[in-house]
Amino acid sequence: MQNIDWSSLGFRYMKTRSHIRYTWRDGAWNKGELVTDDTFNISIAASALHYGQAAFEGLKVFKCKDGKVRAFRPQANAERMHRTALRTCMAPVEVPMFMDALKRVVNDNLDYIPPYGTGGSLYIRPLLIGSGPQIGVAPADEYTFFIMVMPVGPYYKGGLKPVSAAIYDDYDRAAPKGVGHVKVAGNYAASLYAHETAKHAGFPVELYLDAKSHKFVEEFATSNFFGIKPDGTYVTPDSPSVLPSVTNNTLKQLAVDLGMAVETRPIPFEELETFSEIGACGTAVVVTPVSDITRGDKVIKLPTGDKCGPYSEKLYHAVQDIQYGVTPDTHNWCVEL
Ligand SMILES: Cc1ncc(COP(=O)(O)O)c(C=O)c1O
Repeated sequence: MQNIDWSSLGFRYMKTRSHIRYTWRDGAWNKGELVTDDTFNISIAASALHYGQAAFEGLKVFKCKDGKVRAFRPQANAERMHRTALRTCMAPVEVPMFMDALKRVVNDNLDYIPPYGTGGSLYIRPLLIGSGPQIGVAPADEYTFFIMVMPVGPYYKGGLKPVSAAIYDDYDRAAPKGVGHVKVAGNYAASLYAHETAKHAGFPVELYLDAKSHKFVEEFATSNFFGIKPDGTYVTPDSPSVLPSVTNNTLKQLAVDLGMAVETRPIPFEELETFSEIGACGTAVVVTPVSDITRGDKVIKLPTGDKCGPYSEKLYHAVQDIQYGVTPDTHNWCVEL
C-alpha cells in the first residue's frame, strides 16, 4: 500500500507507478507497454500540437466493499473514444484493446487505489493523440494511445454543496454540427476563457445555451445538465452538440428505477424557473447541485437554496452505492478488473 494520505486527496494530477502506452503505425497498434516515466518525446510537428488531433476520456475505478476492484461502465468510455477518433480522423482504439489496456494499467497500480470507505477512487484518463509529424492540415500517420491513472478524493467532504452557475451570451462551447458531441481536447480550449471568467466572478460552473439561437439549454463546460420538476420528473436536454455523458445516462436509468419520469428534450431557457432542482452531472463529481443561475441582470434562484434537493441527493447516493458495490449492480455496469 502506498504511503498516501487518502483523506487529503483532491482532483489533482499525481504521478503513479506507470501508465500504459501504445503506438499505431502502418495501419496497426502495437502491443503496448507499461511505462514508468511520465514524460513523452514528441515531434514538434505532431498533429496533436498543431491541428488538435487529441481526444481524452475520464472514468473511475473503485475499491469495493467486498475488496474487489471494479471499473464503472468502462465500455461506454471506450465507445465514446472510438466515436471521437472517427470524427477527428484518428486511428480508433477498439473496445477490447481499451479494456485490456485498462486492466493492465490498473493491475500495475493497485496500491494507488484509495481504500473502501475513504470516498476516493482511481481516476482513469485515457488519451489518444496524433503523434506523427504533419505540417499540412491532414490526419497524422502515427498515433499514440495512453491510459494514465491517479487516486482522487471525494469531491464532497461534508455533503453535497450547491454552487452558483452563470450563462454568458458572449461565448459558445460547441456548434450544432461541430464536435461538441465527442470528447475532443479543443472543446476544452474553446471553453477555458468563459470558464476562467466565470470562476473569477464567483461562479464555479458556466452553463451554455445552444450556439445557434441561444434559446435552449445545452450543458455545463465539463458536465451535463439535468433539472427536476416539482412532480419529480427528470429532464435533460436533447441536443446534437451536447456530450453524451455516461453519468447522465446512468442517472436517467436510476431515475426510472426510482419510479421517476424521464424526459430528454429541448429545454427553453425560460423553463429554468420551473425546476425545483437543477444539477450538473459527470464522472468527477457525479452530481453538483446548482443553487442559482445568473444570465446578465437576471438571477434564477432554485427553491433548494444552499441545500441539495432530495431527488439529486437520492440519485447521487444510488450511483455511488453501485460504484462501491454497496447495492446490487442490476444493470451490469461494473467491470471487475
Ligand atoms: C462537456 C462535458 N459534458 C459532460 C461530461 C460528463 O460526462 P461523463 O458523465 O461521461 O463524465 C463531461 C465529462 O466528461 C464533459 O467534458
